[in-house]
Amino acid sequence: MHQQIVSRETAPRPGGAYNEQEVVIVTGGVNPQAANIPVMDYEGSQYRADFWLGQGRAYEDAAERLALQQLMPAHGGRIAEIGAGFGRLAALYDGYAQVVLVDYSRTLLQEAVRDWGDDPRFVFVAGNIYTLPLVTGALDTLVMVRVMHHLADVPAALLQLRRVVHRHSVAVLEYANKRNLKALVRWGLRRQAWSPLDPAPVEFVKLNYDFHPDWMAAQLQAVGLEVNRRLGVSHFRLSAIKQRVAPARLAQIDRWLFAAGGAYPLAPSVFVQASAPGALGRPALSTDPAAVASLFRCAQCGVEGLVQVAEDRVQCPGCATHFRKQDGVWDLKEPG
Ligand SMILES: C[S@@+](CC[C@H](N)C(=O)[O-])C[C@H]1O[C@@H](n2cnc3c(N)ncnc32)[C@H](O)[C@@H]1O
Repeated sequence: MHQQIVSRETAPRPGGAYNEQEVVIVTGGVNPQAANIPVMDYEGSQYRADFWLGQGRAYEDAAERLALQQLMPAHGGRIAEIGAGFGRLAALYDGYAQVVLVDYSRTLLQEAVRDWGDDPRFVFVAGNIYTLPLVTGALDTLVMVRVMHHLADVPAALLQLRRVVHRHSVAVLEYANKRNLKALVRWGLRRQAWSPLDPAPVEFVKLNYDFHPDWMAAQLQAVGLEVNRRLGVSHFRLSAIKQRVAPARLAQIDRWLFAAGGAYPLAPSVFVQASAPGALGRPALSTDPAAVASLFRCAQCGVEGLVQVAEDRVQCPGCATHFRKQDGVWDLKEPG
C-alpha cells in the first residue's frame, strides 16, 4: 500500500492527552480492513416511503435543511453528499457546478436519478465510505447527514472524508448525540441501561449508534478535521410538541436554539462544520461531465483518476479493473 504523509497535526494519544503526531492519510491503496467492516445495507429499502413520506418527520427535515443552510457555502465548485440516499437534500446544492451523490445503496441512488438525473451537474456514485471512490482533495464542500449513525468504524470513515477534502473545503457532518435530554432523563429514571455520559459510542440496535459529543470531537481532531462551528438540531423531536406546532414554525424556533444548543449539545442531532487546514490545496479537477472519470478512485487498488473507455464504463489504469454505469449510477462498489 502506498502511503503519503500529507500533514502534521494534533492526534490523540491513549488516555485522551494530545500531542503533535503525524496524521497519515492513505492516498494510494485501500484500507485492507475495509471489506470486514459491517455496513448497514439499504439496498432495496423503501427508506423514503417508510421514514419520510407522511411519517410525521416534516419538522426534522425542515430543521436539518436550516442547519445545512447555516453551515455550508451556498455556492461552489464541487459538492458531494456521502450517504445521500435517495437525494432528499439535493435541492440545497443548487449553487454548485457539480453535485456528487455517493451512497452504498444502488436502489436508493436510482431513486435520486429519477429526480435529478436530467440535470447534467449531477453524478451518482455507488460506493462504500470505507473505500470512498473519490480522488484525494476532490471536494469543495462535503455533506454527510444521518450516516454516522450507521458507521461501525467511525475513525476509518473519517480518514476517508478527510482525504477527499482540500485545505479550503468545508465539511458539514451530522451525528446522533447520545447525551441528549431524553436519554439523560430516561437514564436518571432508570428506564435506560446505558449512560448518556459515558463517552463510548452506544449501539442501541444493530448498526445504529449514538455518539458522545466529546468522543466525536476527539475523533475529528485525530484525523485533522478542525471544528469551526457546532449546532444542536431537532430539540423538539417529541410527538406531543410536533402535533401542536406546524413543522416549518417549529424548525424556525429550533433554529434560534442551534448555536446555544451547539455549545453543550442536548439535542438528539448535532451538526458540525469542519475544515482541514493541514490538507493540500485544491487540485485542478474539471467539473465538466465529460471528465467525470478523473474524479474517481479505484475501490480495488486505490489508484486515483480512472479512464473512461466507453460511455458507460471506466477503467483503472493501475489494476485494469472495469466499473460500469448502470441506470444512471456509476457502480464503483464492485467491478463490472
Ligand atoms: C438514514 S440514511 C440517510 C440518507 C440521507 N443522508 C438522508 O439524510 O436522507 C443512511 C444512508 O447511509 C448510507 N450508508 C450507510 N453505510 C454506508 C457506507 N458504508 N457507505 C456509503 N453509504 C452508506 C445508506 O445506504 C443510506 O442511504
